[in-house]
Amino acid sequence: MPPLSFRYDAQGVACIAGARIPDLASAFGTPLYLYDEGELRTRLAQYAAAAGAGNVAYASKALLIGRIAKLVAEEGMLLDVVGQGELEFALRVGFPPERILLHGVYKSFAALQRAAKEGVGRVVVDSMEEIAAIGKAAREAGRTQEVLIRLQLGIDPHTHPSLSTSVPLSQFGITIEDGQALEAVRRALAEEGVALRGYHSHIGSAIEELEPFRRAAEALGDFAVHAHAGTNFWPEELDLGGGLGIQPEAPAPLDVAQAARDGLAPFAADLGLPLPRLMFEPGRYIVGPSGITVYRVAGRKKVGDGRTYLFVDGGMSDNPRPALYGAYPEMAAAREGGDETELVDVAGLHCETGDVLARGVRLPILQTGDFLLALDTGAYNHSMASHYNRVPTPPVVFVQDGVARPATRRDSLADWLRFEVGI
Ligand SMILES: Cc1ncc(COP(=O)(O)O)c(C=O)c1O
Repeated sequence: MPPLSFRYDAQGVACIAGARIPDLASAFGTPLYLYDEGELRTRLAQYAAAAGAGNVAYASKALLIGRIAKLVAEEGMLLDVVGQGELEFALRVGFPPERILLHGVYKSFAALQRAAKEGVGRVVVDSMEEIAAIGKAAREAGRTQEVLIRLQLGIDPHTHPSLSTSVPLSQFGITIEDGQALEAVRRALAEEGVALRGYHSHIGSAIEELEPFRRAAEALGDFAVHAHAGTNFWPEELDLGGGLGIQPEAPAPLDVAQAARDGLAPFAADLGLPLPRLMFEPGRYIVGPSGITVYRVAGRKKVGDGRTYLFVDGGMSDNPRPALYGAYPEMAAAREGGDETELVDVAGLHCETGDVLARGVRLPILQTGDFLLALDTGAYNHSMASHYNRVPTPPVVFVQDGVARPATRRDSLADWLRFEVGI
C-alpha cells in the first residue's frame, strides 16, 4: 500500500504529499527515503482514537530518527525503545523520559541505571534475573521503577516465523506453563524499588488477522486471573505490543483495540475487577506505508532462462527485508510509461545472491538513469540499514503539502574514515 497521497500527476509524474518524486530524487540524490508526514500523523491519530494517545507507544525500532521522536512527542504518545542505544538516542533528541518504555530481551545494568536515573516511565521485564537488577538500579537512583512483565503466551500469529515472537521456544518473554511467570510476579512484588504495573505481550509482526490479537488478550486475561489467585495482584495495565500488518485486508487499529477489550472483559468481569488500561506498541503500521524508497536504475542484464535483471543503485543495505524474510516491496515507476511493459527482477548492487528487491514484477520499460520506487518501505529499513560494500545510508526526507524537509543526511566516506584507527 503506497502512501494515500501517492499519485501520478497530469504529466504522468509520481508525486508524494504534493511533491514530484523525480524532483526530490534529483535534489537529494538516490537512494532516498521519502515519508509523507501527513500520513505519519494520520496513522498515529488512528491508534490514538483506538486506544487513547497516552496508551500508545510508537515502537521506535521501526524507524528512530529525531524527527519521528518529535512527532510522537507532539502527538502526546509514548515511545518504546530497545536497549541502551535507542534509549540514549530518545533521551538525546529530547523525548520525555517518563513517556518511554524500555524493552530488550537483555538489558545491560548500565541501561537500567540510566533508565532509573532519568525517570523512564516503564521497564518491560523480559527475564527473571532482570528483576533484582532493576530493583538495584532504582534503589541506587533513589527511585521506584515501574515495570511490566513480558509474557510468552505461546500464540502463533500466523505470520513469518522470523516475525513470531510469542510462540513456544521463542527467546522473548517469560513462560507461563512452567510457573516462571507467576514466580516473576512474586519477585517483582517483593523487590524493593520495583512497582509492578501489569503485563506485556508482543506476539509478532506483520499480523494480518484479528484473531491472534483476541487470543493474546484472552491469554493475558487468563494469566492475570491465575496470578491474582496466587498473589492477589491485579494489573492496572496490559500492553499488547505492536504487530498490526499493513496489507489492505489487515484489520484497523480500532478493530484490534475492540478485539482486545472483548477478549479481556470476561476475565475482569468474573473477578469484579476493573478492566486494565490497554496499551499498544505499533511500529510498522505507523511508518511502513508512509514511506517509500527512490532508486535510480543503474543497468540491466539478461540471464540464462531469459529473465531480465534491472539493477538499482541500492539494495539490501537500505532494504534488507527481502533478503531477511522475503518481504518484497511493491515497485512502481516514477513516471507513467507507454503501453509497453516488461517483466523484470529488480536486483541491488551488493555481492549477495539474495540481494533481490523484487521478483517478476511488471514495469514500464525503464532505462538507465530512470527512477524506480519501492513502496511500503518506511518500516525497518533505515533502522536496519547497513554499510555493506561501503554503501552510504540514504537520507530521510519528510514531505508535507508539497514541501520537502530533510530529516537526516546521507552518510559518507568522510564520516566512516573518522572511525579508522592507526591508518
Ligand atoms: C516488543 C515489541 N513491541 C512492538 C513491536 C513493533 O512491531 P510492529 O512494527 O510489527 O508493529 C515489536 C517488533 O518487533 C516488538 O518486539
